[in-house]
Amino acid sequence: MAEVVLGVAGGIASYKAAELLRLFTESGHSVRVVPTESSLHFVGAATWEALSGKPVQVGVFEHVDEVAHVRIGQGADLVLVAPATANILAKAAHGLADDLLTNTLLTARCPVMFAPAMHTEMWENAATQANVATLRARGHVVIEPAVGRLTGVDTGKGRLPAPAEIFAAALDVLAGRAQDLAGRHVVVSAGGTREFLDPVRYLGNRSSGRQGFALAAAAVSRGARVTVVAANVSLPRPAGVDVVDVVSTEELRQQVHRAAADADAVVMAAAPADFRPADVVGAKIKKTADGVAPEIRLVENPDILVELVTARTSKRPVIVGFAAETGDASASVIEHARAKLARKGCDLLVVNDVSGGQVFGQDDNEAVLLGADGSVEQFPRGPKGELAHQIWDAVVHRLD
Ligand code: C5P
Repeated sequence: MAEVVLGVAGGIASYKAAELLRLFTESGHSVRVVPTESSLHFVGAATWEALSGKPVQVGVFEHVDEVAHVRIGQGADLVLVAPATANILAKAAHGLADDLLTNTLLTARCPVMFAPAMHTEMWENAATQANVATLRARGHVVIEPAVGRLTGVDTGKGRLPAPAEIFAAALDVLAGRAQDLAGRHVVVSAGGTREFLDPVRYLGNRSSGRQGFALAAAAVSRGARVTVVAANVSLPRPAGVDVVDVVSTEELRQQVHRAAADADAVVMAAAPADFRPADVVGAKIKKTADGVAPEIRLVENPDILVELVTARTSKRPVIVGFAAETGDASASVIEHARAKLARKGCDLLVVNDVSGGQVFGQDDNEAVLLGADGSVEQFPRGPKGELAHQIWDAVVHRLD
């Protein structure tokens, strides 16, 4: 079990760190809480001592004989600052060391993760963004704040993600994933699009978004800034990810292209509809008295993956497609997939055999990763999160 340092900075969200602490301790980890002076205005040291079962110290001049300012950081397996204020991000980015937490950040040899929480203006301020970029470039994990209700009546980006989400992301970081996507922006599309026929009916598909969300969570744990373009996904959002919700293939297309403009990698895990109704009628289509069903004419949607490949001028971004395939009399699943990879022109194709529909909505997946360079990697049946990491391994390899 891990030695975790939980840094708590002075924001109203610090009360949520108490639940985060419980999640760690209840799963057997040992947690040492290091609050900043100002955070004690929100949650007192007694709370942290009671919940962690360990003494709490803020400055470096108490118990000097224990050399806590060096020991705590040296002995940690993970330093997690949640909530991280604009102030602690700035101090960490510049290497200041005027209290126990900032000293600990400088002595830590283990992964360091920040879960920022602040008002939108502070988060978007150029100084904060520059500090976040500096920390990420050094290999620290800075997860994106969530969007929602902030202190008072305002809403916007800057909320601390739910403790359970931060905990899940922290476990992934603790699992020792290399921070090999630090400083990178990756885009993942997830879910299945809907093409409306009339105000109530649509053509859809069975994609749940699970694999896309697993890719997003895995990329966060490897230090990436992550944008997910999510088509009709009803799953809990992974912590630290920018989620853009869309419904139709056309919306997905616009948002993927927008996000891809500065991306290092784009993974098209979504299932966009290949066809849409030629006409969308404004009123619900009624049954006719003579019982004749309406004919629905379809037109083809643009292939976003092919557009991404066509639009790029260099080897960036690395582009990954997914292929749900079934074998038939003319060719095997892999033969069909090879032909598709050549047609689409992407760098990698993740191939699922969907004969029998066994992939959709499940926690597990089984796939083959085909590379444009001729490589073939098997992923035997296993959790979608593990497949996600194998896909990022292959992407990182192509980024270098
Ligand atoms: O041709 P097929 O639909 O099997 O290709 C699947 C891959 O192409 C997936 O990565 C999917 O996200 C992408 N795709 C796309 N635009 C479409 C249809 C599929 O980008 N209109």
